[in-house]
Parts: sequence; C-alpha cells; structure tokens
Amino acid sequence: MAMPSLESLWMPFTPNRQFKAKPRLLSRAKGVYYWTPEGRQILDAVAGLWCVNAGHGRTEITQAVAAQLETMDYAPPFQMGHPPAFALANALVKIAPKGLDHVFFTNSGSESVDTALKIALAYQRARGEGTRTRLIGRERGYHGVGFGGISVGGAAGSNVWLAKATGSLLIRTEASRGWRVDEESLDVWQPKTSPPSNTEGTMRRRECKTASAIPFSERGHPEP
Ligand SMILES: Cc1ncc(COP(=O)(O)O)c(C=O)c1O
Repeated sequence: MAMPSLESLWMPFTPNRQFKAKPRLLSRAKGVYYWTPEGRQILDAVAGLWCVNAGHGRTEITQAVAAQLETMDYAPPFQMGHPPAFALANALVKIAPKGLDHVFFTNSGSESVDTALKIALAYQRARGEGTRTRLIGRERGYHGVGFGGISVGGAAGSNVWLAKATGSLLIRTEASRGWRVDEESLDVWQPKTSPPSNTEGTMRRRECKTASAIPFSERGHPEP
C-alpha cells in the first residue's frame, strides 16, 4: 500500500509531531489480531478502543451492515424513524437489567456522556428539583471529548483551561482537584486544597475517592 502523507490529519489524544516522526500504523484486522502495513501481527488485547468486542472482520456483522446499506443507508432521526432502530431498542430492553426500559442511541462515548449529564439535569427538573445542577466526577477520570465529558473528567487539567476559556455554562470546573476524601473521617469529604468559594462545605462520602464539582452558576448552590 502506498503511504499517504500524514500532514493533513489532526490526530486525537496523540502528540502529533512525535507520532508523525515515528508512526505506528495498522492496516488490517481479523479476529483478535491487527497487522501493520509491513505485515507484523499484533494481538489486539483491548478490542480496538474497547469497541470491537465481537472481534474484527466478523462475516455476519459485515454482511448485516452491507445489507442495511443496500436497503437504506440513512434516515433522519429528527421527527422520523426507521423500523430497525425500534427493533434494536426493543431487543436491548429485553436483555437489560430490570428498570432499564428505554434506549437513546448515540454515536460515541463522548456523546453518550454529554447526553447522560443532560438527562440527569432534566430528570431533576422534571421531579421539581431544578436547582440540583451540581455534577460530580472522579479526579483523573476520562469521559470523552465533549464539553460535558471533559468538565466531569479530571484529565490533565483540561477542564480548567476550558472553563476559563468558555466563561459560561460549565464554568468553575477548577474544583476537580479540590475535593478529596478525608481518610480520617469516614462520612465527610473535606477539601484539602482551597476550594472555589461556592463549593465550600462538606459532602457525604460515597464510593468514589475523589470528585470534581461543577456548579452551573457563579452564585453557588445549596449544599447537597
Ligand atoms: C468512560 C468513558 N467515557 C467516554 C469515553 C469516550 O468515548 P468516545 O471515544 O467513543 O467518544 C470513553 C472512551 O474511552 C470512556 O472510556
């Protein structure tokens, strides 16, 4: 295969200059293996990026995708629908744990996380608790590349500069390193470093060790 120029593509979560100086390319996959363009076989121990769990190149999946593309490649999901989407939702509900009885399809983990955050806010609003707008995530967590996912994640301080840059909506995410479990006290989280003024107070200890708090307004919110 002729090697294309690597210049035009901006790669996600990758030091581009270093990668392009010494590329790690994959060109073929089957079952649990990848092959490099030079023909070296590599065990795919993480199923792509945890998203090819059924294995690479499964004939039945290839055929099902090809058959659907031949029948209809796209249908708008706004105000319209197509039968296989409903059939898949029904099939998922059937095997999901009790109580998980509705499905919302997304195109990526990032979109899923941002959608889940919106659903959490909408849920509180629908039950008359619209002031519950604080979202909590784990320090050093990774929740994708959307504004919401970055804000509840704690990867490399990316939420801090983002909060400063946007100045609206998901502001004040700098609390991500500010809340820590006080190991001495089993039922209280205490900030070890100075917290932003609107997140002072205590929080009940849950399973997580660390958390980030994201108040949605500058004025702060009642303590949980
Ligand atoms: C917990 C979690 N949330 C969100 C994402 C983002 O998923 P995607 O890369 O599909 O946007 C990932 C991806 O690894 C993840 O592990």
